[in-house]
Amino acid sequence: MNQTSDTTSIQHSARQVAIKVIANILLQQGSLSTQLARYQADVASEHIPLLKELCFGVCRHYPTLNSIALSLLSHPFEEKDTDLYATLLLGLYQLTHMNTPDHAAVNESVEACRLLKKDWATKLMNAVLRRYQREADEIVTNLEAMPSVEFNQPKWLVKRFKKHWPEQFEQIIEASNTHPPMCIRVNDDRVSRETYQELLMKEGIKSEAGEFSASSLYLRKAVRVDQLPKFEEGFVSVQDESAQLSAHILSPKEDEKVLDACAAPGGKTGHLLEKSSRIELTAVELEPWRMEKIESNLVRLGYPAHLICADASKLEDWWDEETFDKVLLDAPCSATGVIRRNPDIKINRKPADIVELVEIQQEIIQAVWKTLKPGGFMLYATCSLMPEENEQQMAKFIAEQADAKEAPLNTLAAELDLTWGTQVSHGRQLFPTLNGQDGFYYCLLEKSSQ
Ligand SMILES: C[S@@+](CC[C@H](N)C(=O)[O-])C[C@H]1O[C@@H](n2cnc3c(N)ncnc32)[C@H](O)[C@@H]1O
Repeated sequence: MNQTSDTTSIQHSARQVAIKVIANILLQQGSLSTQLARYQADVASEHIPLLKELCFGVCRHYPTLNSIALSLLSHPFEEKDTDLYATLLLGLYQLTHMNTPDHAAVNESVEACRLLKKDWATKLMNAVLRRYQREADEIVTNLEAMPSVEFNQPKWLVKRFKKHWPEQFEQIIEASNTHPPMCIRVNDDRVSRETYQELLMKEGIKSEAGEFSASSLYLRKAVRVDQLPKFEEGFVSVQDESAQLSAHILSPKEDEKVLDACAAPGGKTGHLLEKSSRIELTAVELEPWRMEKIESNLVRLGYPAHLICADASKLEDWWDEETFDKVLLDAPCSATGVIRRNPDIKINRKPADIVELVEIQQEIIQAVWKTLKPGGFMLYATCSLMPEENEQQMAKFIAEQADAKEAPLNTLAAELDLTWGTQVSHGRQLFPTLNGQDGFYYCLLEKSSQ
């Protein structure tokens, strides 16, 4: 239902905006985060949590909801009616996972067809959702054997997880289907982890220290960043524990020249500077709109860096031929280790993406390796669980690049206890855990001195 705000803009209901966001994701017009950033201003601020719950919920449960929806329709909606399909998925999500009374979920979905000016679909929407209401148990039982319903993940991903990680398969599925914990990174340039934990306690926010990253705290319950003490003063940042390992592994020292090759939104850029604010840091990022996020992060943290908006693989566009002591390459990847944070992966990610990403990664690795000085170190990182993007990528590079060799991940930080993750043929693979870290991959490479 439209509500006119006291300003001139029209505010739409969370459900109407959710239909637009989900339809655009289904039409491959952007990710959940970009779509939410684009449309959330269209709802009143008090309805943003509901908008997020609807959109994250549909994406998180998409493999199951999609199977149910397709089983209820005699033929799928045409592409021009993707908004109706989004409406149906939202209705099913409300019926299966929200406290909305059933009749309200059905009526709102029917009303949504009218608001979309597709009155012809009201009867269909009503009939389909009412049938689900009546026959839910039977419908779900009939679909249970499908991998997309049994594991609530796309079939191709289930296959790959099973093939690559049979031992960790259940853990990966369980952790990837739940809400991620909120983990923060304490800036020990400003405050110790223990002191910050006390500051949190004074605000009634309970936390536990992470095991692997000395800067990490897990919050028992997620809070808004403006509820975190001294957030604006740069005392803390929100960052997963696995991601925090990057700066600890690379351990930059005063006066070193460091490259952060794929830097936005700047989580690791900030952490590298927290480790030593006296490094000379260059951050390269392809996307101008994501570059702005690095800028605002660094302003909040109060550290300077040389920011360049460019394709890191095109050295002629950005590199001045001054070599770096250390390079962090946090490469664009399938993000299959962080599905719980980006559940739209369940809708959008396709097997062909992996092939394309492997090529992009290769181009960036080969280019930025040239910017590393002899005797320098490059940390290759992804938030992927696909061996093609990780250990196989590194195996190929080491085999082809005569001056590259793998170094133990604690070479630059002897205090790092390598008990996290699993040693693989090259580097270490971390898996997502319930209430714990995200899935991640690290491999440290050393360039020979000659
Ligand atoms: C995994 S994210 C980096 C996350 C970041 N390191 C952090 O901790 O906040 C990968 C980034 O690489 C950027 N990117 C993709 N291709 C690139 C390229 N060819 N050159 C530079 N950046 C690129 C993407 O836009 C994205 O921001």
